[in-house]
Amino acid sequence: MCGIVGYIGNQDASDILLKGLSNLEYRGYDSAGIALLNAEGVHIFKEKGRIAALRNIVDPNVRATMGIGHTRWATHGEPNRRNAHPHQSASGRFAIVHNGVIENFASLRDQYLSGVPLRSDTDTEIVVQLIECFVTGGMGVEAALRKTLKLVEGSYAIALLDRENPEMIYVGKNKSPLLIGVGDGFHVVASDATAMIQQTKQYVELMDEEIVLLTRDSYVIKDLDGKVKRRKPYTVSFDARDTEKGAYPHYMLKEIDEQPAVLRRLLQKYEDETGHLSVDSAITRAIQNADRLYIVACGTSYHAGLVGKQLIEQIAQIPTEVHISSEFSYNTPLLSKKPLFIFISQSGETADSRTVLVKVKKMGYPTLTLTNVEGSTLYREADYKMLLYAGPEIAVASTKAYTAQIAVLSFIAIAAAESKGIALDFEPIHELSFVAQAMERMIDQKAQLKEIARNYLSVTRNAFYIGRGIDYYVCMEAALKLKEVSYIQAEGFAGGELKHGTIALIEDGTPVLAFTTQPNVNNSIRSNVQEVSTRGAYTCIISMEGVTDKPDDQIVLPKVHRFFTPLVCAIPLQLIAYYAALQNECDVDKPRNLAKSVTVE
Ligand code: G6P
Repeated sequence: MCGIVGYIGNQDASDILLKGLSNLEYRGYDSAGIALLNAEGVHIFKEKGRIAALRNIVDPNVRATMGIGHTRWATHGEPNRRNAHPHQSASGRFAIVHNGVIENFASLRDQYLSGVPLRSDTDTEIVVQLIECFVTGGMGVEAALRKTLKLVEGSYAIALLDRENPEMIYVGKNKSPLLIGVGDGFHVVASDATAMIQQTKQYVELMDEEIVLLTRDSYVIKDLDGKVKRRKPYTVSFDARDTEKGAYPHYMLKEIDEQPAVLRRLLQKYEDETGHLSVDSAITRAIQNADRLYIVACGTSYHAGLVGKQLIEQIAQIPTEVHISSEFSYNTPLLSKKPLFIFISQSGETADSRTVLVKVKKMGYPTLTLTNVEGSTLYREADYKMLLYAGPEIAVASTKAYTAQIAVLSFIAIAAAESKGIALDFEPIHELSFVAQAMERMIDQKAQLKEIARNYLSVTRNAFYIGRGIDYYVCMEAALKLKEVSYIQAEGFAGGELKHGTIALIEDGTPVLAFTTQPNVNNSIRSNVQEVSTRGAYTCIISMEGVTDKPDDQIVLPKVHRFFTPLVCAIPLQLIAYYAALQNECDVDKPRNLAKSVTVE
């Protein structure tokens, strides 16, 4: 994944680059580095670990007004200083930062670089060495860059410094995200707008296989044949404050708390002049024309998709399948005659999902993307798009984007039902406003949820969540959240399935937390709780007031319409995970080995 930044202007570059990298740490944080270019040449600082560690070793006496930076999530080569970016060419003339994977790096190395001593184990170094190799052979830098990028297979967002040209940063992009930020007398490069939002709100999108020649006053976009392309900047819709933690100890907690406000914002955004929830008529028509919907997503977005399937099938009566993107790419199921593909992605950049998007577009099928990031790759490339309006989500573990995804999926279900003339037994805006209130009530119960985490999850290495129907999908997300942030091994199981094998893992004190919000399965899930309790499990029941609750239940959720219970369940499942992570002294916002935007397959 990795994040890259670049700056060329008239201010101190190192500070701007380090701040930008801190904002990008969610993309990877196992090592980091910057390269500064001034009259004395290229100065490189790199360090294993976080940006804070890098900041400690950057020499404050090196003044420069241009530079590039990188925060790494290792793919090729273990995370250490040697493999940290920037990488330099053999003579030291060029320095590069790269996000992506060069798939044919080994063959390029063997074909072109047999005499060049390599200094890292990365695929990236091949790119900078190739550029120098072509320049040494007599090419201009721009031509060498274009030639190199034509040879490269895979994904890249790169920024390159040339010691001989302190007036320019060279930029290239394919598959990995990259933006140019435009300012007064300066330009920036960033993997996403949050990185440089303190500098500018004006950004220019880059398309695949484009390069940019970036100076203080100009940006020239070209394709790999050198043909100039013109593109104007757009203004991003959030500001620097949206990316700050404020008084919160962690972004995750802030983002959990924001969920009722996000839901209310969504209701406003998707409400038409007549006070009805409405979805773009082109999208409703595309759904009407489809005989089956295929939801494709990864991680938490996949779990939102599972809830969405239930909503679309039950509210709009349209058959819907949900697929994990990385499986769909090669294990493609038999498709119906008229499928519509719905991609769900918080970041809009997930490489696994994008591979499927490209594939099904080639097959000629219509596509819709639900994403939080306007202008992201999945947003741009789909035929239809719907935004999540959750505001920047900084914590690696997704919270407010998840509930926003479920909400938008419910809007799709409602609009599709209405367009088919199916009468709803609820008034959507009214019910969803209740849901926002119910979420608030759960947010107010932090002390109780902290106590649940202390009581059930403080000494354990594993835990189970069980549920049936829509609660089962909630349990899958509950288990993922717990694993991601607290490192407790957790599984979400269908209540009835546990006894077919996994119950063997239940021993004295094993925590089993059950969600029960649906009256039709309340008795059966309570029987499953009994089964594990008899075998020593330490059980906790999370039920719904006036629907499924019993006097001894540990948590009782405020009542909402049966379709929207996952939105309310999200709050305790997220807060329990959050407090379990604190107990285990984990880095809540940046869990080990994870990255928020996974731009490699
Ligand atoms: C990463 C993140 C997860 C996220 C998944 C899908 O693995 O750590 O939190 O759910 O990617 O990301 P997307 O941006 O496509 O929703």
